[in-house]
This record gives sequence, C-alpha cells and structure tokens, in this order.
Amino acid sequence: MKIKTFEQTDELDRYAADRFAGLLDAKPGAVLGLATGSTPIGIYEKIIAKHARGEISFRRATTFNLDEYVGLPPEHPQSYAYFMRDKLFGSIDLPPGGANIPSGVAADLAAECARYDRLLAERPIDLQLLGLGHNGHIGFNEPDHALQGGTHVVRLRENTREANARFFGSMDEVPKQAITMGIGSILKVRAILLVVKGADKAEIVRQALAGPITTECPASLLQTHADVTVLVDQAAGRLL
Ligand code: F6R
Repeated sequence: MKIKTFEQTDELDRYAADRFAGLLDAKPGAVLGLATGSTPIGIYEKIIAKHARGEISFRRATTFNLDEYVGLPPEHPQSYAYFMRDKLFGSIDLPPGGANIPSGVAADLAAECARYDRLLAERPIDLQLLGLGHNGHIGFNEPDHALQGGTHVVRLRENTREANARFFGSMDEVPKQAITMGIGSILKVRAILLVVKGADKAEIVRQALAGPITTECPASLLQTHADVTVLVDQAAGRLL
C-alpha cells in the first residue's frame, strides 16, 4: 500500500483527479469505479474543472458506482443516482448508458444484484475510488463475521444510518437497506484509490491500514490488494 498524506484537502483532491485524468488519457475507454458521500465531492469538482478546460473526456469511459439505497428511485434527491448526476455526470461528457448504478427500486433485488455482477464481469474496473465509513465499511460492506463477494442487499448498521442522517430530514427517512458491490468485486479491480478525510476517521484508518485483516473492519481487506493508494489529509492520517 502506498500512503500519501496531504496538508491541504485541495491538493489531495487534485492528486485524485489527476489519477483519473492520467488513466483516461492513457486509456480513453477505461472503466472507473466511483463512490458517493462527502469524501469525493472535492475530487469531482476538480474533475469537472478539468473537463471544462478540455483536459479530460469521458466519451468512451464506463463507470460503476459502489452502491445505492434500497427504496429510493433515481429522482429522489438522496439517492446515489441523483447525487452522481448532481455532483459529476451532469457536468461531464459521459454518454447516457456509460454510467452504471445498482437500482434500489428493482422489483427483484436479487436479479438486480446478479445483473450488476454480470456487468462487472464484462467490464473489469481499472481504477476504483473508495471512501471509508467510520465503522470500516467500504461501499456498504458493513463489519460482520462474514462478508459477501458479489453484489448484494445489505442491512445498514445503525451507526451508518446515523452518519448519513445528516442528508435526510430525520432518522426515520434514512433507508434501512442498500445494494452494494461486494468485497470480492472490490478486491478484483486493477487499482484502488482509498480517500480518507477528517480527524473523526483517524482511528478507523489506522485500524484499516495497520490493524489485523478482519471482516470486522472490511477496509482492512484492502491490505491484501496489490495496488492500493491511500490518500489522507493530515487529520485522518495522524495515527499512521
Ligand atoms: C459511498 C460509499 C461509502 C462512503 C463512506 C464514507 O458510495 O460507498 O462507503 O464512502 O460511507 O462516507 P463519507 O465520504 O460521507 O464520509
């Protein structure tokens, strides 16, 4: 694992955006794995600025998002489909059909998970962006005594729902389930950028990178992957 610590969040965001730009330059038809949440917002802003300057094009790219809430349609402002349109897709030239996000409103969620896994098998991800949950989750793979390899429906832990309640009117509105890419799919990608910001993640980032490899901290399994770059700001990296 390569760990890079940044004094300024702005520099971290620029570094991550440059990784995506470099990949698309070398391989315009690259497959990108994307995340939602607060962590990638600055990175997406930098990517949009690069695109506006003509430095990066997604015309031939394909994207896969990690996860989606069960029960929220794509037009719901808190759905991850909406987030991606709002924070990135609406401002770049990714063709309609280039973006893949699991549907949280599919009538048959098991069939939706199988469909997503088929797509992932057809188009291996070149570079996967990951954030880190306070409990060590990546995607919505929550700490557990066992983890699932493929795309699956997961019951969100209360601490995850509480962490995400800030985006909803009340706790009751926070979905209880999500569809997430599995740990097996995440570990199969060619390269990973794990991005962690803020003092409140310092302890979990230490556990994930320097603690034992355990399903109780799903991000610790990234220690087994051959090409992981971890980008932390000083606050998140202070215990490393
Ligand atoms: C989002 C995702 C989650 C988040 C994590 C951190 O698609 O898969 O694992 O990356 O919950 O969220 P933030 O960035 O909001 O702290």
